[in-house]
Amino acid sequence: MQKDKVTPAASQGVKRISSRLDGIHESATLKLNALVQAMKARGEDVINLTAGEPDFDVPEAAKAAVLEGVRANHSKYTAVPGIVPLREAIARKTSDAQGIAWNASQVIVTNGAKQALYNAFIALLEPGDEVLIPAPYWLSYPEMVKLAGGIPKFLPTRFEQGFKLTPEQLRSSLGPRVKAIILNSPSNPTGRCIRLKSSKRWVGFLRIRESGSSVMRSMTELFLRLRSFVRF
Ligand SMILES: Cc1ncc(COP(=O)(O)O)c(C=O)c1O
Repeated sequence: MQKDKVTPAASQGVKRISSRLDGIHESATLKLNALVQAMKARGEDVINLTAGEPDFDVPEAAKAAVLEGVRANHSKYTAVPGIVPLREAIARKTSDAQGIAWNASQVIVTNGAKQALYNAFIALLEPGDEVLIPAPYWLSYPEMVKLAGGIPKFLPTRFEQGFKLTPEQLRSSLGPRVKAIILNSPSNPTGRCIRLKSSKRWVGFLRIRESGSSVMRSMTELFLRLRSFVRF
């Protein structure tokens, strides 16, 4: 008896990769980083200004806490948003830093900022929803928005104006399809910080918009503590 032959999908003209990946670009930062690593491997003297990483080792207290967790067999599944003591600590730290009261029920722990933002976009964006991104911007933002079906809209800012958005710029870009605006402070790559007073104004301003058109603010402050090390 002859076995049914299964023709591979690719040879039937079926795309192997989903169309969700159409128009998604490779990370330019990681591409350049790989190039620098290859140049170094060839013995070339090159300074790497591509991927940004702290130049210090993992703090001893963090290493000790990880080892303690392993010894205590903290290796089982946890609650999806993270363990309560960690969420409480994050809420306390963020409340102190921002002067805005947060509690543990408003905190979700993720594997880094990238996952947090991507999850948020997946949860919030309908196909065709727009996300405002002040430029220059961290290169992953538009790709994450596109993967989640959204449309990135860039708001150019200039060195001469301290990379600030002007109120007119913001007003004129808040169309009916705008779902979110990404505010990154201190900004990668400009280093611009949004002052606490302005950050509260932003929250107030967007709350007004939220009641009318559900604009979400995505405030990414992953370099907040770096201000202790770097002067912006
Ligand atoms: C603005 C910005 N957001 C997010 C990330 C990535 O964060 P994580 O490594 O925590 O996912 C970076 C990394 O450089 C970044 O510059």
